[in-house]
Amino acid sequence: MTSTFESLTDGIEFGLDGERLCFADTVRITQEGHRTVGAMSSLYRHVDPADEAVLYDTFYDVRDEADEDRMLSGKLAYSLTSIRQAPVGTESAKTHGHVHSFEPDGFPPAEAYEVLSGSGVFFLQDLHAGPASRMVVAVHAEKGDVVVIPGGLYHCSVNAGEGRLVFADLCRRGMSDVYGDVREFGGFAYLRHLDGEYEPNPRYADVAGLKHVTAEEWAGGRIGSLYTTLRDDPAQLAWLWDRDEFVSRFPHLAEYAYPVGLAQP
Ligand SMILES: [Fe+2]
Repeated sequence: MTSTFESLTDGIEFGLDGERLCFADTVRITQEGHRTVGAMSSLYRHVDPADEAVLYDTFYDVRDEADEDRMLSGKLAYSLTSIRQAPVGTESAKTHGHVHSFEPDGFPPAEAYEVLSGSGVFFLQDLHAGPASRMVVAVHAEKGDVVVIPGGLYHCSVNAGEGRLVFADLCRRGMSDVYGDVREFGGFAYLRHLDGEYEPNPRYADVAGLKHVTAEEWAGGRIGSLYTTLRDDPAQLAWLWDRDEFVSRFPHLAEYAYPVGLAQP
């Protein structure tokens, strides 16, 4: 650990050392991955498919060794994503984006993001043949904000700040992410440019108006630290895997907790 290390959240020791995400010796990670700019070529308007620069890093199942049993035995996995600040063409750096696979009970699991460093814009939308989107929101989130992602919505994360965007996420263990629809249709309904302007994706035949909300407005209130809640009181997070719990806690989002995308088998 260097002297410039900045701890990002309670309960686990990791942070940014300049551009690099670093972890205390007691932190365990099951799997790491990354996506290059070139691998996202179908999702940006102007990009070199041969560009092998890393756009974002992912760290799956992150926990402190002291919490090993509790963090690995529950229904949820705690993971991290770190998106670089540098633009791609005129666009802000972003993740690929996906929707969740459907569970046997027909409820695609919800997800929660917590911004740990930087500023993010999180696009949530439906997706239909055309391609077309009938609802799109841009959820704006700063450090400490939690973004609630209903199971039926496609979601994509955009770095809208000056440095790296680092966020944690909680999702159901063993759940699958479906990427094909997004890739086939050339990304999400809106592009965010570096100057903060939003442009409808020209590849879409029909795009709903873009609604901007804060994370707190979208969730209907504040939500506490994901790591410490998962470690100390995971029952509070049952809305992430149980449809009834989700609808009870977020009644204003109930309409998005059901299949609305194209991922339905
Ligand atoms: Fe997801």
